[in-house]
Amino acid sequence: MRKNIVAGNWKMNTTLPEGLELAKQVNTLLAEECPKCDVVICVPFTHLAMVNEIIDKNKLGLGAENCADHKSGAYTGEISAAMVASTGAGYVILGHSERRQYYGETSEILRDKVRLALDNGLTPIFCIGEVLAERENGSYFDVVKKQVEEGLFNLDAAEFGKVILAYEPVWAIGTGKTATADQAQEIHAFIRKTVEEKYGKEVADNTSILYGGSCKPSNAKELFAKPDVDGGLIGGAALEAESFMGIVNAFE
Ligand code: PGA
Repeated sequence: MRKNIVAGNWKMNTTLPEGLELAKQVNTLLAEECPKCDVVICVPFTHLAMVNEIIDKNKLGLGAENCADHKSGAYTGEISAAMVASTGAGYVILGHSERRQYYGETSEILRDKVRLALDNGLTPIFCIGEVLAERENGSYFDVVKKQVEEGLFNLDAAEFGKVILAYEPVWAIGTGKTATADQAQEIHAFIRKTVEEKYGKEVADNTSILYGGSCKPSNAKELFAKPDVDGGLIGGAALEAESFMGIVNAFE
């Protein structure tokens, strides 16, 4: 059966010393708990190798927030999937709306990134989600379906089975405005159905679909109680160890 997962997305926050301190705090709090979900922190590239040294990987997974769409070579400033994997990280967020919106990441680019992530043994946390206008005009089902189809449906079933999905409505990210639990359930069920139509019921049932967008300790329980919401991708609330753990502990 699919896993419940709470993953932090630190984005472009924390210097290296600050990041190490935060990772240490999360690690310490986790050592005292038996969480009912997998816990992952996705941190800036500069932090990966050192965070990897100080966390208990049996309890806390480590991921990057992006990787390059090329294997290696003359791409100044880029970080490859192989480089990410060599730090000890096991996950990589791909297709976050901030990457799509500010850095022009298209489905075509994302397909290459997903391929390279999988080839290097990384688990992609693949993000999808509509903007406010698409929510309001009702096209969000089509938008999200297209993102899943274009970004991932070139994979075979075994490969797709390694991917974690994260539904993140852009209008809810960092805005304090959360999708209601019913809104999340509606679209998560639709995403699972879309996966089922392509890969069958078993693959769909085994796919973890996380919710992201102003998820916090006060609303996590209600969101995670929905049958098709398998955890969260957490931005702002992951920057403080106690609030991140408050979300982890929403799974009882
Ligand atoms: P937020 O970000 O929790 O700060 O809304 C979520 C995300 O962008 O992954």
